[in-house]
Amino acid sequence: MNHFQYVNGILHAEAVPVPAVAEAIGTPFYCYSTATLERHFQVLKDAVSGLDALICYAIKANSNLAVIRTLAARGAGADVVSGGELRRALAAGVPADRIVFSGVGKTPDELAFALDSGILEINVESEPELEELNALALARGVRAPIGLRVNPDVDAHTHEKITTGRKEDKFGIEWTRAPQILRRAAAMPGLELASIAVHIGSQLTELAPFADAFRRLRDLVLSLRSEGISVRRLDLGGGLGIPYDDQPPPTPADYAGVIRETLGDLGGRLVLEPGRMLGGNAGILVSRGIYVKEGETRRFVICDAGMNDLVRPAMYSAFHTILPVAEPAPGTPLAPVDVVGPICESADTFAKQRPLPPLGRGDLIAFATAGAYGAAMSSIYNSRLLIPEVLVKGDDFAVVRPRQTYEEMLGADRIPAWL
Ligand code: LLP
Repeated sequence: MNHFQYVNGILHAEAVPVPAVAEAIGTPFYCYSTATLERHFQVLKDAVSGLDALICYAIKANSNLAVIRTLAARGAGADVVSGGELRRALAAGVPADRIVFSGVGKTPDELAFALDSGILEINVESEPELEELNALALARGVRAPIGLRVNPDVDAHTHEKITTGRKEDKFGIEWTRAPQILRRAAAMPGLELASIAVHIGSQLTELAPFADAFRRLRDLVLSLRSEGISVRRLDLGGGLGIPYDDQPPPTPADYAGVIRETLGDLGGRLVLEPGRMLGGNAGILVSRGIYVKEGETRRFVICDAGMNDLVRPAMYSAFHTILPVAEPAPGTPLAPVDVVGPICESADTFAKQRPLPPLGRGDLIAFATAGAYGAAMSSIYNSRLLIPEVLVKGDDFAVVRPRQTYEEMLGADRIPAWL
C-alpha cells in the first residue's frame, strides 16, 4: 500500500497533486511520501512485535537526510556502508547506538571514525579487517563492538547483481571457516564479539533462502554456545522484496514468521536492515515527455529523465510501472511504446513495448516504486544535473534536495595550472 493515487483524474502524492510540484520546481524530480515511509516502518514493526528487534534502515536505499530523519523519528536505527553514510545517519539524528556499519571494504579511516562515533556495531567481513580494527581499537584504548558477517552459501534466487550470500560472492566470511574465525575474533583484546550477521541479497521474492540462511545462523550460534562463546545479537540483514509488478512478494508478516520459526527461541536481540521495503514504494520519479518519435517499427516516448536519474532498468533490467499523471479515461486503448531517456546509450530505456495509453509532448509520467535505489544511485552522466527530491506530508511538500545548478556542476572541476 502506498499514498500515490488518482484524485479527480490527477495523480496525487498524499494530498498534493503531482502537477503542482512539477509546476513549482520543473521536471524531472523524485517525490517521496511521508505517510508511506511511516506506514512501511510500522508494518515491519508490527510484524516483528514480540521479538526484541531493532530496525536499522539501510540508508543506501535512499540516503536523503529528510527521509532518514522521517524514519529515525519513528525509532529506526541505520545500517550504513561508508563514512559518508555514517555521517548522513548522524546528521539526520540517528543515535550512534542504533547504527550498524556494514560493508566489505571499510578503510582504516572509516573504521576509526566509526570507533570514535561510538556506534552499535561494526560488521567485519574478513580476517584482515578484523586485524585492522583490533589494532585501531587497541591504539584508542577501547574495545570495538563487532559483528562477524558470515556467508551462508545460500542462493537468494534474485538478480545476479544483487545476490550476496553464495560462496563465490565477495561478501562475508565463508560459512565453513566461520567457527575458527569467530574463535579468533573472540580472543582479540581490542574486539568485543557482539553479533553474527548475514545478508544474502536484495529483492528476494521467496522465503526459503531466508529460512536456509537463518537456520545456518542458528546452528552456528548453538555450536559456539557449546564452546562457551556467546553473542548477544543477530543481524539478519535486509533483502525482503517489494512488488514492482503484479507479482506480490512475501509479506513482512510471513518474513517475520520465518524469523520466529528459525531463531525465535534463541534469545538475544535481532537487528534487521531493510532498505527497499521501507523506501521503494514511498517514492516516484516524475518526468515529462519531450518528444514522441514514430519509428518504422515502434513508437518512442522520449522523456526528460534518463538512466543517470534512475539506473535500475539499465543496470538490472528492472521493471518500474509507468503511470500517466493525468488518469486515462476508462476504456482508453493501450498501445505498446518504448519509454526512453535522452542519454546517448541504448541502455537508457525505461520500458520496451510497454502497453500505455497515448502520451504526447509535455505529458507528465511517473515511474513508480522509485523511492529505493533511485536518487541514491543517480549520477551526472552526460553532464546532466542531479534532480531535485521532494518530500510530501499531507497537503504540504518541501524540496529536500534542490536541483543542482550548472555553476555547482562546473565548479566541482579544477583546471591545473599548466592549462
Ligand atoms: N544490509 C546490507 C548489508 C546490504 O548490503 C543491503 C543491500 C541491505 C541491508 C538492504 O537490502 P534491501 O532491504 O534494500 O534489499 N541497487 C540494487 C540493490 C542493492 C542492494 C545492496 N545491498 C537495486 O537497485 O536493486
